[in-house]
Formats: sequence, C-alpha cells, structure tokens
Amino acid sequence: MKKKSIVSLFLPAFLLIVFVASAETDPPQKTKMPDNVKAVVDKSCFGCHNTDSRNEDAKEDLDFKKLDKLSTIKKIGTYKKIGEAIEKEEMPPKKFIERYPEKQLTDEEKQILLTWTKKEAETLVKSK
Ligand code: HEC
Repeated sequence: MKKKSIVSLFLPAFLLIVFVASAETDPPQKTKMPDNVKAVVDKSCFGCHNTDSRNEDAKEDLDFKKLDKLSTIKKIGTYKKIGEAIEKEEMPPKKFIERYPEKQLTDEEKQILLTWTKKEAETLVKSK
C-alpha cells in the first residue's frame, strides 16, 4: 500500500516535468512572415525590437530576429503579447509616436498584425 501511494504522489510531478521539458525542446517551427506583415513590423516595431537595438527593455521583451528560435510554447505566448500590445494601443509607445507620428499604425496595419499573430498562434496550437 505504501509503495502505491509514493507512485501516485510522484507520477503527476514526473509527467509534468516530461511535458514541460518536451515543450521546451520542441524543434521550433519556421515563422512565416508575409511581406505585408514584415512591412508593418519594419515600419513601426523592428527598430526597437531587434537583436542590435540599443533599447534593452524592448529587445528583452521581444526580438523579431530571434522569434524563430523560440520554443513553440514561447512563440505562442509572444504572438499573444503582440496582439494584446496592439489592441490596447500600448505599442508602438506613445512617446515614440509623438516624436515620429508617421510610425503610427493605421487601422489596416493593426488588422494585418492582429490577423497574422492570431493565425500563427492557432497554427502552432494545432501542431502540438
Ligand atoms: C520606441 C521603441 C519601441 C517601438 C517602436 C515598439 N516597441 Fe514594443 N516595447 C518597447 C519597450 C521599451 C518595451 C518594454 C517595456 C514596456 O513594456 O513598456 C516593449 C514591449 C513590447 C512587448 C511586450 C509587452 C509585454 O506585455 O510584455 C510587445 C509584445 C511589444 N513591445 C510589441 C511591439 C510591437 C508589435 C511594435 C510595433 C507595432 C512595437 N512593440 C514597437 C519599445 C518599442
């Protein structure tokens, strides 16, 4: 009886570790970024969110150059965050837009990014 209770205690923990470990080491899927999406990102996001950016906070949170190297789980999370940042109009930052009003996203550009992040995230979720 004692043996059984030890197994039942550790099995869920063991399964959780296996699940987390396999999720983290999943071979990353190639990120598909259509030209129209890339154009919007290049215009309004990439300057801060890339490996060579001097904006440490920005690139720590999101690096478009490294997006492809993230695990599937992290990628899904990143797409969600991008969608939220756009919907809540947190990105591009207001101060930045005051200085560079031409970098403001148009409604159409917002839609392009939102549709893309949603589709990519859904594809990744289904592939799991
Ligand atoms: C002027 C620089 C700058 C530009 C341009 C910019 N960002 Fe950011 N971004 C930041 C900084 C700084 C942070 C981290 C601090 C913060 O959350 O305010 C950040 C954080 C984020 C985060 C993480 C938010 C979170 O909740 O963790 C996302 C997602 C993001 N940006 C997406 C975008 C997208 C999409 C664009 C283009 C539409 C964009 N950013 C344009 C500077 C920028």
